[in-house]
Amino acid sequence: MLVLAILLGIAQLSWQFNPRQLLFTDASESSSTSPFDKSFDSLVEDTLAEWQTPGLAVAVVHGDDTWAKGYGYASLNGSRVTPHTLFNTGSTTKSFIASLVSILVDSNTTYKDITWNTPFSSLIRDDFVLPDAWATEHTTLADALSHRTGMPRHDFSWLNAGPNVTVKDITRSMRYLPLHHEPRVEWEYCNIMFSAVSYALETVMGESTGDLLRDWLWSPMGMNQTFYDWSDAQACVRKDKDCELATPYIWNNYTQHYVPEAITTFPPATGAGGTISNVLDYTRWLRRLINGTAPLSPEGYRAITSPHSVMFAELPPYTGPVWYGYGLIMGIYRGFKVIQHSGSIGGYMSNMLVIPDKNWGVVTMQNTDSPAQNILWLKLMDDTLEVPKEERFDLDTLMREQRAGSAAAREARRHALYPDLPSIPIPPVLPLTRYEGTYSHPAYHNITISLNAPSHGAVVTPDGNSGLPLYGTSATADLDTIVKLTHASGEHWIVDVYMGAWTRDYSDIMSRAQFEVAASGVAEKFGMQIEPEIEEYLWFVRV
Ligand SMILES: *[C@@H]1O[C@H](CO)[C@@H](O)[C@H](O)[C@H]1NC(C)=O
Ligand SMILES: *[C@@H]1O[C@H](CO)[C@@H](O)[C@H](O)[C@H]1NC(C)=O
Ligand SMILES: *[C@@H]1O[C@H](CO)[C@@H](O)[C@H](O)[C@H]1NC(C)=O
Ligand SMILES: *[C@@H]1O[C@H](CO)[C@@H](O)[C@H](O)[C@H]1NC(C)=O
Ligand SMILES: *[C@@H]1O[C@H](CO)[C@@H](O)[C@H](O)[C@H]1NC(C)=O
Ligand SMILES: *[C@@H]1O[C@H](CO)[C@@H](O)[C@H](O)[C@H]1NC(C)=O
Ligand SMILES: *[C@@H]1O[C@H](CO)[C@@H](O)[C@H](O)[C@H]1NC(C)=O
Repeated sequence: MLVLAILLGIAQLSWQFNPRQLLFTDASESSSTSPFDKSFDSLVEDTLAEWQTPGLAVAVVHGDDTWAKGYGYASLNGSRVTPHTLFNTGSTTKSFIASLVSILVDSNTTYKDITWNTPFSSLIRDDFVLPDAWATEHTTLADALSHRTGMPRHDFSWLNAGPNVTVKDITRSMRYLPLHHEPRVEWEYCNIMFSAVSYALETVMGESTGDLLRDWLWSPMGMNQTFYDWSDAQACVRKDKDCELATPYIWNNYTQHYVPEAITTFPPATGAGGTISNVLDYTRWLRRLINGTAPLSPEGYRAITSPHSVMFAELPPYTGPVWYGYGLIMGIYRGFKVIQHSGSIGGYMSNMLVIPDKNWGVVTMQNTDSPAQNILWLKLMDDTLEVPKEERFDLDTLMREQRAGSAAAREARRHALYPDLPSIPIPPVLPLTRYEGTYSHPAYHNITISLNAPSHGAVVTPDGNSGLPLYGTSATADLDTIVKLTHASGEHWIVDVYMGAWTRDYSDIMSRAQFEVAASGVAEKFGMQIEPEIEEYLWFVRV
């Protein structure tokens, strides 16, 4: 029997648990048979242990039935996950933002001029400026909500901006961020465009997005434990004994430690994410995603669940293309239309999924970044569709194979960055200390380069000290947003960018970086190819 030792790095606590004795709490409202039978319970236990996942909450709706259950730990001090445990639900927020827009679009009185195809330029002209004039004039709400603006993620820009960044700041920074495509050419996921939608809503309505979400969507649905602000979630924790906030963890495989993310360093709600909720409240949203009922209108529901951009030509286990609606992902699974969206931020992960023609839906929330939840909702979906055992998509094995190959894949990528390095690399022109200092980019903010590894959350990883490392940190960043530079040759470096999971043993982006040394002998600029798909480097200037 497998017994895992979970050592809680930062808090200096250690906690041992036997994954086969996970306790659970149940809050189901149903007379029929629960989907969470003994075999599901033991699959959850195995899956959480295999994928180093402290805890998970799950809920299923089927017609008028609702089942909900918590497994494992909300915090590694012994508090258990219950169906009431609060998680940050990340990008599932996008479906709410799209629904807010649908309500504006529905209005044929005050906001009658606002349609899905209204360009940002007619709502927030001075603040919405892209590097291309045509894109600035023509990019619409629909383009943003379906990820077809041509703007890539640029996630490091808002994560590195600090805790006080606003949707207005994020929107205004886009003028400094290179586009990847012309508008409407390709599907490309972009969080900051949802910030622009959120800012446009706030401007038009004269109310904060959090208030709009609460008053137009969450309260009408009775989602009373759903929040858009940590302080509101913390107020719930103080006054309601059922309200508990799960602690998000990052598993470091090298040290075999869970490291908690500090909620105090989380980015503010941005329109792209930021909702804090529990699986029971989300069952209310699942019912609307199944039936398209109020607060959604039939037209609004049709709009958000229609195809607006093609994500993938194929993506097993779906059949045929997978498409994006507005804030929602859709595909065909075994002949049924599936509507879903996942969310992931700083150790929180969630997924909501419905099959309207089966009157069925599932939501999962967990407190680490792992494939556990996907293995589990897929199993519940297959059970409900009565998929024969031998025809089931083996996600667990696929994930194990990917995990086993991940180190080699990263190594291959590392080599591909500079295929023509000299056998004896050229040393950097300056002593390393002369590269130290703060460099600034108007949208990506400040990075302070240092020879010293950052003290917060830092864990030395196997590849950590090979070659000449330099580290880049920010005084203001959320979620331990850190870059690590490893020398390649001359002024050229390999950069590993960690966005919220420095304690994990691999980076979110691995790419090229370069210093520019002036004739005066000063390292004046530091450039990173931060969107690996875009050749262009973004240059930070020494301040
Ligand atoms: C959808 O609406 C139908 C008709 O009102 C109802 O029978 C069904 O239970 C609803 N589905 C869900 C999941 O709420
Ligand atoms: C465990 O920690 C969480 C988060 O800090 C806290 O809310 C909870 O009350 C603690 N539970 C126990 C049993 O100590
Ligand atoms: C708005 O338009 C819809 C559909 O066109 C119509 O059914 C509704 O009565 C209109 N509402 C108002 C307030 O005019
Ligand atoms: C949510 O709160 C409102 C207002 O306090 C109340 O009327 C409603 O019953 C609550 N809903 C649930 C599901 O608790
Ligand atoms: C995780 O650590 C274990 C124990 O050191 C090792 O066997 C395994 O290969 C590691 N997995 C990955 C994906 O690095
Ligand atoms: C960047 O650093 C400079 C120099 O220390 C400082 O003046 C500026 O306020 C910083 N900018 C941000 C966004 O922190
Ligand atoms: C954010 O705002 C708070 C309150 O105004 C202030 O105390 C804090 O220093 C600010 N943080 C940063 C990193 O600017």
